[in-house]
Amino acid sequence: MSKCICDFRLIQSYALPSGNRIMQFIPEGDCPECFPGQFIEVKIDHAPTALLRRPISVCHYSVRDGLTLLVKPQGPATSLFTELPLGSVVNMMLPLGHGFNTDIKPGEKVLLAGGGVGIAPLVMLCDCLAEKGATVHIALGGRSANDINGIPQLFPKAERVFASTNDGSAGTEGVVTDIPIFERLADYERVYCCGPTPMMKAVARIARASEVWCEVSLENHMACGLGACLCCVENINEAEGNVCVCTEGPVFNINRLTSWQ
Ligand SMILES: Cc1cc2nc3c(=O)[nH]c(=O)nc-3n(C[C@H](O)[C@H](O)[C@H](O)COP(=O)(O)OP(=O)(O)OC[C@H]3O[C@@H](n4cnc5c(N)ncnc54)[C@H](O)[C@@H]3O)c2cc1C
Ligand code: FES
Repeated sequence: MSKCICDFRLIQSYALPSGNRIMQFIPEGDCPECFPGQFIEVKIDHAPTALLRRPISVCHYSVRDGLTLLVKPQGPATSLFTELPLGSVVNMMLPLGHGFNTDIKPGEKVLLAGGGVGIAPLVMLCDCLAEKGATVHIALGGRSANDINGIPQLFPKAERVFASTNDGSAGTEGVVTDIPIFERLADYERVYCCGPTPMMKAVARIARASEVWCEVSLENHMACGLGACLCCVENINEAEGNVCVCTEGPVFNINRLTSWQ
């Protein structure tokens, strides 16, 4: 798939209760299509310590609405990025990586589990799977209600949204895998997951034990996003060893990620 470096104009930006921001951009010229689970590398100007682009998941993309990102102000570059005024023009490289497998049959029941900014790539995935006839359930994990508030509205096509919080202020008290649906995971044909590594490993463990098809999206630290610098490598299995998550992933089927067992 051809990659492109394009300018995008910020047309909408608002904060969620967690402090993360939803940022909507429209391309200034031609822009290639993006698929669920792919990411962009954004150039953040005027951040003196951020010489390299930063990877951010495609939260949503359509010709009509442009590109939407969900961004957590984590350090200098993402903090500057989330403070951009409307009308700012930002340079992005896209689409990068291999996204989720969305080759489903109508009527399949699927679970999308997300935590933190790992929720971002699940937004477009939910729309895409629902449009293909899947029944989509969402499982969200957060530390407290603030991390969850405003997130269910990003999934209008989901049939049900479940939540867990560490302090019990919303949904099930505990971590995402404490939500009772994980006791009956075999009710689902597929599970897709993106979030902190311990969460993805726990979801992968239950999916394996329940013999449910499962894909996870890794968020290893990245620099080039193109397979050149090797800073994102993950040892995925004995036969393949270390692979670049930016080009081979970021999405992997857990059958290929046997080093996680
Ligand atoms: C494929 C991919 C998709 C991503 N999607 C999103 C997204 O949709 N929304 C979003 O807000 N962020 C996303 N991230 C994380 C984002 O790229 C980092 O938060 C950002 O690069 C931090 O840059 P900074 O200069 O603001 O902070 P830095 O000063 O570079 O880092 C601040 C802190 O964040 C940690 N950090 C940096 N990169 C990562 C990472 N990849 N994973 C975990 N911790 C990290 C650092 O260790 C440090 O503690 C994604 C990362 C990857 C690899
Ligand atoms: S980020 Fe450079 S090789 Fe993956």
